[in-house]
Amino acid sequence: MSRVDSNNERLMILSDVTKVYPMGDTQVEALRGVNLQIKSREFIAVLGPSGSGKSTIMHILGCLDTPTSGTYHLDGAAIQGLNPNELAEIRNRKIGFVFQSFHLLPRATACENVELPMVFAGINATDRKACAERVLDQVGLKERTRHLPNELSGGERQRVAIARALVNRPSILLADEPTGNLDSRSGAEILALFEELHTEGRTVILVTHDEMIASRAQRVIRILDGRIGQGSSDNHGRKE
Ligand SMILES: Nc1ncnc2c1ncn2[C@@H]1O[C@H](COP(=O)(O)OP(=O)(O)OP(=O)(O)O)[C@@H](O)[C@H]1O
Ligand SMILES: [Mg+2]
Repeated sequence: MSRVDSNNERLMILSDVTKVYPMGDTQVEALRGVNLQIKSREFIAVLGPSGSGKSTIMHILGCLDTPTSGTYHLDGAAIQGLNPNELAEIRNRKIGFVFQSFHLLPRATACENVELPMVFAGINATDRKACAERVLDQVGLKERTRHLPNELSGGERQRVAIARALVNRPSILLADEPTGNLDSRSGAEILALFEELHTEGRTVILVTHDEMIASRAQRVIRILDGRIGQGSSDNHGRKE
């Protein structure tokens, strides 16, 4: 683990990662020794039953949380043991996160929601607005920038969340069941958007319950009971 990849070939490396949540007198072992390597520009689907540890793995990959034991290297840097401020800094620079339930501020317009990460990054109001409008246009919401979340459809809300994940120009996009709350047509549109963002050169990792969606990824990782399961596979050749 001492060698650092200079060419980003191995973008993310989890080695023997465990995650244990203390719950009163007991403990929940959410991850039980995960080894995983992800290359730059891969498009990966993560599949597994409810409670198997998918979100936990995504939180660690996305620097929202750290392992209980084991190591995580992102882009050659050791992530385990960093404090919350250091994690936030890395997240803001490298990672966009999209959640199943959108996580939009209800009283802020689409544009204001997308501006939020740029507020934290200290970008001035004029540049923020211009950038937010450009990214909203990119996800097909040019005509919806002044709508509040409850004035948008589910698919549109998820597009706002994706635009917000994109504004700081992250090279990595992580999505935890981004189509879970959408009908099949909106889900297909959101999937097409992720495919486009992958084609543009981003690393994309998405959690799904849907085998159809998983079949569109280059590689499928199956999680079972906190471990990477049998049947994880390469779909290379199917996706271009
Ligand atoms: N903050 C927490 N505190 C205690 N236990 C937790 C916490 N977060 C998750 N767990 C437990 O860890 C295990 C894995 O949870 P995780 O959320 O990663 O599952 P998941 O695969 O994402 O499930 P789902 O498909 O339902 O979203 C579960 O048993 C869950 O109850
Ligand atoms: Mg989950």
